[in-house]
Amino acid sequence: MSAIGTSWARIDGAEKVRGSAPYAYEHVTDAVYLWPITATVARGRVSAMDTAAAESADGVLLVLTIENAPRLADTSDGDLTILQSPEITYRGQLIGAVVAEHPEVARQAAAMVEVTYDQAPHDTEFRVDHPDSYRPEQVNGGFEPNSEQGEPDRVLASPPTGTTQIDQWYSTPEEHNNPMEPHTVVATWDPDAPLLTLYDSTQSTQGVVSTLAPVLGIEPEHMRVIAPHVGGGFGSKGSPHSHDVLAAMAAMRLPGRAVKFAVPRQHMFLYVGHRAPTSSRLRIAADSDGNITALVHEAHTHSAHAKEFAEQAAVSSRMMYTAPHRRTDHHLVPLDVPPPFWMRAPGEAPGMFAGEVAMDELAHAVGIDPIDLRIRNEPAEDPETGKPWSSRQLVDCLREGAERFGWDRRRAEPGTHREGRYLVGFGVAASTYPHMVNPGNEALIRYQDGRYTVRIAATDIGTGAWTTLTLIAADALGIPPEQVHLEIGDSALPSATVAGGSSGTSSWGSAIVTAAHQFRARFGNDPADGAELSAEAADNPDLEKFTAASFGAHFVEAHVDVDTGEIRIPRMLGVFSIGRAINPRTVRSQLIGGMAFGISMALHEESVRDPRFGHVVTQDLAEYHIPVHADIADVDAIWLDDPDEHATPMGSRGAGEIGIVGSAAAVVNAVFNATGVRVRDLPVRLDDLL
Ligand code: MOS
Repeated sequence: MSAIGTSWARIDGAEKVRGSAPYAYEHVTDAVYLWPITATVARGRVSAMDTAAAESADGVLLVLTIENAPRLADTSDGDLTILQSPEITYRGQLIGAVVAEHPEVARQAAAMVEVTYDQAPHDTEFRVDHPDSYRPEQVNGGFEPNSEQGEPDRVLASPPTGTTQIDQWYSTPEEHNNPMEPHTVVATWDPDAPLLTLYDSTQSTQGVVSTLAPVLGIEPEHMRVIAPHVGGGFGSKGSPHSHDVLAAMAAMRLPGRAVKFAVPRQHMFLYVGHRAPTSSRLRIAADSDGNITALVHEAHTHSAHAKEFAEQAAVSSRMMYTAPHRRTDHHLVPLDVPPPFWMRAPGEAPGMFAGEVAMDELAHAVGIDPIDLRIRNEPAEDPETGKPWSSRQLVDCLREGAERFGWDRRRAEPGTHREGRYLVGFGVAASTYPHMVNPGNEALIRYQDGRYTVRIAATDIGTGAWTTLTLIAADALGIPPEQVHLEIGDSALPSATVAGGSSGTSSWGSAIVTAAHQFRARFGNDPADGAELSAEAADNPDLEKFTAASFGAHFVEAHVDVDTGEIRIPRMLGVFSIGRAINPRTVRSQLIGGMAFGISMALHEESVRDPRFGHVVTQDLAEYHIPVHADIADVDAIWLDDPDEHATPMGSRGAGEIGIVGSAAAVVNAVFNATGVRVRDLPVRLDDLL
């Protein structure tokens, strides 16, 4: 019997459809309401906050300002340090809050607080040649900022005869995480226990505890975070942000009251993180057969004065293709903007947009098929470390996809395939995402009355963890899924790491498998009622021996209206190598969701920051464009049958974000094939094509 590999319907599906699955805001009915006050200058100091009118408004319970806020115990994290000084480092920074009996009163009273500023000149304009640009000590993911093998500069400067070179810049705009459920927190402080309870929309309940407890100056065991259901994570919920601090401060001033703070949609563009804009320069040299001889990827992006974050956009170029001479580098421009953070495949998504469009340009310049170019430069082992791949089936993904997609119908010469009013093009791009398994995961299993309760502080951010972990437990215990009772989404449960970095299922699942095997070894197949055991995930030495990453290939058909430049994407296919699919139904959903993100990144999303005032003007879903159903036509994802026993005991690899990576490049490459117009700056606009 194997529960893994069955397309089990979501355990939480019916509850969600009926509206009975509680999201953060829906917990606790007897609550009070917080409305935030945000800075309206991008740099300077608050000189005064006049709260008299707000305080006398009916139903106002508390007006928090930079003058009366509780002192934080640890102010080392600039993202979380609010209301501690009059200093403003970005427009939209939280500088106060009103809490009232009713949300309308809180909002109205917050507007009555008169704030005056000593405004200082600000700079929110990202440019590569900014005088303050610097190389960070580390980039996101803990990677070195730069790498070099061979002599790429020499090879690029004096290429042998017959070399083709491309040297181009690619850019992605600032973008904002916009899960369907914005960040939300309900905070209650019980001073007698003492206990701070947060119902928080988060990707990691225990991450919120371990990050916020020292900031608030309380012991981690005096804090509990609960998140049974989360309406999308998108990366920004991978860490608590300043809104959590604000709600906790208010709750601690109003003991016993539940303080609700639903971050308004427009504030999703202010203080919960964003993807910084990126500019990547790609230089690639290849011989006349398309063998890459040198590859240089320099990535530039912005960061914040409040806190450094470096989008690791060039890291994937270290291991995608064979290139004896290779260099990658990262540079950051610190600006008066909010701290950037994780967003939907940070690093890989913008970096592989640049890298995979560059590969398409190289294929065109050399005059070979873009699939052939990638196959020709497929590395037998990790070119950066020399380690073997745990499994790398990129070539199979490309071939399988080409066959299924009808790649042979693609015209190599761009702009030559017209159907009615549309120019038709096919595009391809490769994808990768690292396989990450976090240490420190532990699962508890208890048998009672014919059921096995499995406890772990995992979080389901809408991706299917409730169901997937149930299948993993059933499989490892050798029982039907109906006999598993899973408990997740609560920091009080055994240790678990974040639902982020595509590491959740791998990390939590490994702990569940270890615990299940130990449970069976100790208690056998017929345990007594009350049999219970908890175990940490067993070490997996293979993760040191091999480079483990997921791979994939995206295929896109683009139609471009010859008169208006309108772009339609009638077909998109992703073929992935992700190890064993634990729940085909939910993994397919995750993959096609990522591919829709790719269409969105290619054609729609852009946060426009007004340099005069320093804020994002496209601050709602009317102006921050995302695709609607009519924009997403036939999108399908499949995967190879290639269990990876090196990666996890389930044979699976990380699959959460790989659907995103490379997908925007495939769209742009298809648009080029349709029109002959090469767009290097996202999003593609109609006027780019006219
Ligand atoms: Mo994901 S953007 O790594 O939370």
